[in-house]
Amino acid sequence: MSLKIRNLKSSLFRILLLVPAGYWVYLIGSGSIGVDPAKTLNHKTGEIALYYILFNLLLGILISFSFRFPVFLRFLLMQRRFVGVLSFVFLIFHIFLYLTMEGFETKAWTQLVTKTYLIFGLGAWIILFALAVTSNDFSVRRLGVKRWKRFHRLVYIASALFTAHILSIEKTDLIKYGSLLLSLWGLQIIRVLWVWRKKRITRKVINAKQV
Ligand code: HEM
Repeated sequence: MSLKIRNLKSSLFRILLLVPAGYWVYLIGSGSIGVDPAKTLNHKTGEIALYYILFNLLLGILISFSFRFPVFLRFLLMQRRFVGVLSFVFLIFHIFLYLTMEGFETKAWTQLVTKTYLIFGLGAWIILFALAVTSNDFSVRRLGVKRWKRFHRLVYIASALFTAHILSIEKTDLIKYGSLLLSLWGLQIIRVLWVWRKKRITRKVINAKQV
């Protein structure tokens, strides 16, 4: 019974995550997406992907703090891979819409490796691609849990790169993105200090036992 409820909650949660995509498909279908659809959608796909990535990182932070999730929210811990892969699907559209805006011309491709904010974006995109294709049981088995976890820590390098990508673009929504990213990095620093302190205490206890 409880397994059934967990599956139901997971399915509802996944549907909820797809609502923004459905809403934008509706806007495209009804022709109410503004004068520059590719630009609007490029921004929206970047924004939605960012929210999903931040959600996953926040769960990771809470896990590090040994946060006890209320029973009704524990199913979320099983959704991290889905959320990660979904965010990457939005990033595929994000890059595709950028190329559409630039008319798929040679300039669009050369800019990817010459314009600073695009170099940051491409770097993050490549790492997130590697993480998305290895977000499955087969890769976990192949790499072994320890190596897989170490490999997925690349998400922090990707985070630094997309932070640079976004902050070097934003002028209009600087407060929104700035505060989101600042909170993320603030929490990450607290997390590193917390884990470091926990390790130090454990080491002290082990040493005391050995004396
Ligand atoms: C090759 C990879 C990428 C390309 C070509 C790219 C391209 C772009 C472009 C052209 C813009 C709009 C710039 C402007 O308005 O002047 C943008 C904005 C943005 N990108 Fe990327 N991007 C890439 C990777 C990423 C990644 C990995 C993320 C991570 C979440 C991301 C998140 C965003 C966000 C949040 C915005 C701002 C949207 C807004 O203003 O509402 N992008 N990107």
